[in-house]
Parts: sequence; structure tokens; C-alpha cells
Amino acid sequence: MSKRYTITAALPYTNGPIHIGHLAGVYVPADIYARYLRLCGKEVLFVCGSDEHGVAISMKAKKEGVSPKEIIDKYHKIIRDSFDSFGISFDYYGRTSSDIHRETAQAFFRTMHDKGCFETITSEQLYDAKEDQFLADRYVIGTCPKCNHPEAYGDQCESCGSSLNATDLIEPKSALSGETPSLKSTTHWYLPLDRYETFLREWIVERHQKDWKPNVLGQVKSWLDDGLKPRAVTRDLSWGIPVPVEGGDQKVLYVWFDAPIGYVSATKEWAALNNTDWKPFWQDKDTQLVHFIGKDNIVFHCIIFPAVLQSMEDYILPENVPANEFLNLEGRKLSTSKNWAVWLHEYLVDFPGKEDVLRYVLTANAPETKDNDFTWNDFQTRNNSELVAIFGNFINRVMVLMHKYYDGIVPQANQLEEVDKEVLVKLAAAPETIANLLEQYKFRAASQEMLQLARMGNKYLADEEPWKQIKINPERVATIMSTALQVAASLATLSAPFLPHTAAKLSAMMQLPPADWNSVKELPLIIHGHKLEKPSLLFDKIEDESIQLQQEKLEL
Ligand code: MF3
Ligand code: ZN
Repeated sequence: MSKRYTITAALPYTNGPIHIGHLAGVYVPADIYARYLRLCGKEVLFVCGSDEHGVAISMKAKKEGVSPKEIIDKYHKIIRDSFDSFGISFDYYGRTSSDIHRETAQAFFRTMHDKGCFETITSEQLYDAKEDQFLADRYVIGTCPKCNHPEAYGDQCESCGSSLNATDLIEPKSALSGETPSLKSTTHWYLPLDRYETFLREWIVERHQKDWKPNVLGQVKSWLDDGLKPRAVTRDLSWGIPVPVEGGDQKVLYVWFDAPIGYVSATKEWAALNNTDWKPFWQDKDTQLVHFIGKDNIVFHCIIFPAVLQSMEDYILPENVPANEFLNLEGRKLSTSKNWAVWLHEYLVDFPGKEDVLRYVLTANAPETKDNDFTWNDFQTRNNSELVAIFGNFINRVMVLMHKYYDGIVPQANQLEEVDKEVLVKLAAAPETIANLLEQYKFRAASQEMLQLARMGNKYLADEEPWKQIKINPERVATIMSTALQVAASLATLSAPFLPHTAAKLSAMMQLPPADWNSVKELPLIIHGHKLEKPSLLFDKIEDESIQLQQEKLEL
């Protein structure tokens, strides 16, 4: 394992709030990973921020009749605050409208320009004469030449994930006026991706064949096999970062050129606040860079941004890009524009104190290898029959019995029997099993291993029946309770990446030292004489009524 980690989570566009699709695909897994590494004692920097440029923003502003600045300020605040209350543990949450970001992105462009990394190409581009506007990216909609999806954007088809040029679209229409665009000549800077083909192939296909996810490798290989083409990195738009070289007047950087550089700017801003150097996080070979993204971002993080980092020379490349598939909601694709979503800021109001429930459901059902579906019924079932009936019930039983029999003071265990040893052996193996899964980005499986320990604890208590033994064999009860307590104490650490609020509550209840993944392997975690606090419930049942309210909100 490396000693230092730079973990990035895709910068959300500030054209709407965060929904469960974003959380399941990107932010929850990234947060689990960051929390796990911190528990291992690694140096971790976990950054994110708002993606505030691009047509997604100016379109939204136009629709609402306000300035782009008003849109980004509004959603930046909503998004930042909702991540914060949800408990996503970013070390820094920046925004791409900051001065440092503009300077950093312009410096990247200028350096690459001066090194001769770009080509300028003059060509005929789609143009909306009525709006006096060149049509790039989301300003133009048409049929995808690859998959025939009728609503592909000028830079990308969200249906098949292909990266497109606006002129590739079949029957393009202006998203502004609905008119068929005309053509007009313009000059832009292009990143000749074809020059990077050999480098990318060697780096990804040969070096990362084994450790990258098959869905990511599959997409990358298919782009490489199709042959990479030069890609424009500037636009004729007014909203964005001005192109900082001669001839760049009236032009801005392509949003996908500046956005990933936002990870670097966020690091710089964090470092300045913390009086430390940002460079090791991006330039030291001992740092592992990991990008958490959704599948629609693969080409940008596995091809375009690495080509940029490679041209800049001093920078490290991502060690992994564990992109997820998509989460659907009640059988339909999530959509910000169609308002088909469960919004994080609304969830936090409707289910106060239940941050961990949503984290858990989204992890247990994460779209890691295929698209998955979120349903409110499944949410209720996972809460009631897993968190309440397994995890919560186990902890509560242990705590209540401990107070009933021993006033909350841990008894001395007596002779261990085979069943006790079996439990302890399984417990001792769990940290490594879970760690291995987490290090392979298998968060669903890892969460289920964690839950499995609570299930084991419940079964152990049910089989050993301390409530019957207490009358006939109190010595045996001391052993049973002490063994069950080891499971509970271990869960306080092992659940922390997944259920941070619950783990903190459990730790406080058991009066445990700060969670530490390295010492959780060494049993016993809790010895006789240790005093426990009074029990309180970790989870409670979610009733049908609150589920029905959510279903009505969606008009199901
Ligand atoms: N805003 C983009 C999206 O929501 C993601 C940007 S990720 C970054 O799809 F790398 F560019 F920052
Ligand atoms: Zn397509």
C-alpha cells in the first residue's frame, strides 16, 4: 500500500442539486474508500468541488432567466451543504469559478500551448444564426451516430457513452431555437489525442489490465480501437475560463478541459489553508491518485485528462478509475431535468438522523458492475430487516444484557468453548477480508461482510442463550457476553467507513478509543473491568406511512 492517497470525486455540475444516482455512483463509494484509508493511518486527501462552467450552467441560467453566476452560487451552496450534512468527508470542496482555479487552468493551457501540445484547426462549425451563437456541447442535440439515441449532445452521447464532435450528430438541432443549424467557420485549439495512443495503450491496457474494472477497460479499449481523433479544447462561448493565449479573445476553455484541473486547484486551495505543499499530492510517485466517477465520465478521466497530465510531465497518473454504472429510480433512468430523482437535500429533511440508512442502501445495492434500481420498498426492507433486525438488534441485545447482568462492566471470560473460538477466529479474519474487498473497490461485498459479523453475533447469542444460562451457569454467561462484546467492538471500527454516524454512536456507547483498522485485528478489543455507557438504539423501524409519502412524491 502506498503511503499517500489523492482521492477525487467527480465535480458535480451546479445546474441542480445532488440526487441518489450521484451518491451511489460516486460520492458514497469515494467516501467509504477515503474513510477506510484514514482508519488505516494513511495520508489521505479527498477533494471535490463544484463544476461551474460549461453549457449545462448557461442553459439552466437561460431557462430560469437569471445570470449563470446566480445559478452557480445557488447550487454550489445547496450541494456543498447537503454533502456536509450527509457526512461526505471531503477534506476540501472547491469551485471552478475561483481565482486559483482560473489561474491553474490557464497555466495548464499556456504550458501545453508553449510546448506545442495543441494544433489549431479552422473548420466549419454548427451555428445558430437566429441566436448568433456557435452550437457546441449541450447547445446542440441530435441522433448519436454510434447508437442512434435521438437526444445525444454535441460532445457526448449519454446513452452509449461515446464522445462526439457536434458535427458527428445526425440531424442536429439547436437546443436554443430548435432550428437546424447552419455552418460557420471558426478556429480552435485541439488536443491531438492520436499522438497519445501508444502511451495510453501501454499505460492502461498493458499495466492496468488486471486491476481496473472490466467496464472501464472495455470502454477505454473500444475508444482506442476506434482510433483517437483530435479534440477541441476551446469553445466560442462567453461563459467559461478565457483562453489565455494570442487569438483567444471571445473564446473559453472547453469545460472538460478545465473541470478535472479543478482537482488540482482544490488541492492548492486546501494546501494554502493548511500551510502545506500541494505538490506531493500530484507529483510524488509515492502518491496514489484515484478518481471516483460515473460511467459517463470515463473517457474524460481515462483518456483526455491523463493525456493532459502526461503532457504536463511532472504529474502522476491515476492508479485507478473505479467508475460505476448507473442507478435507476423505481425502474426509470434518473433525470435532473425531468425531476425524476430522490434529492439529497430533501432526503435529509424527510429522514433526519438517517444519513447512514441511505448510505447503507446505496452501498448494498451499488451499481458496481451493472445498472441497478433503487426502490422505496427496498429501502424500507434493507432498513427494517438488515440495519434494525441484524445490526441494531445485535448491538442492543449485547448492551441491554451487559447492563442487566453486570451493570455495564465487562466481566472476565472463563474457559472458551469451541463455539466461542469459532466466533473469535471469524472475527479476527474479518478486517483483512473487508480490507481486500475495499482495496478492490468492491464496496457492496465489503458492506455485506461487515453485516455478516452482526448476523454471526445474533446467531451466537441465539444459540448460546445467555438469558437461560444466567440462572444455571453464570460463569458461562461471562464468557458468552465477553465474546459477543468483541464482535460489537470490532463492528464499531469495521462499520465506520460505511456507517460513520452509527459507528461513532456505537463507539461512544461502548467507550472505545478512536477507531483504528490496524489494531482491530488484535483481539481482545475490550477487556474485563471496562465500563460501558447506557444503551440507546442505533436504528429504528421505518413505517409504511413514510415510504408511502415518498412514493406519492414520485406519483407512483
Ligand atoms: N460535472 C461533470 C458531470 O457531472 C463531472 C466533472 S468531473 C471533473 O458529469 F473531472 F471534470 F471534474
Ligand atoms: Zn450513443
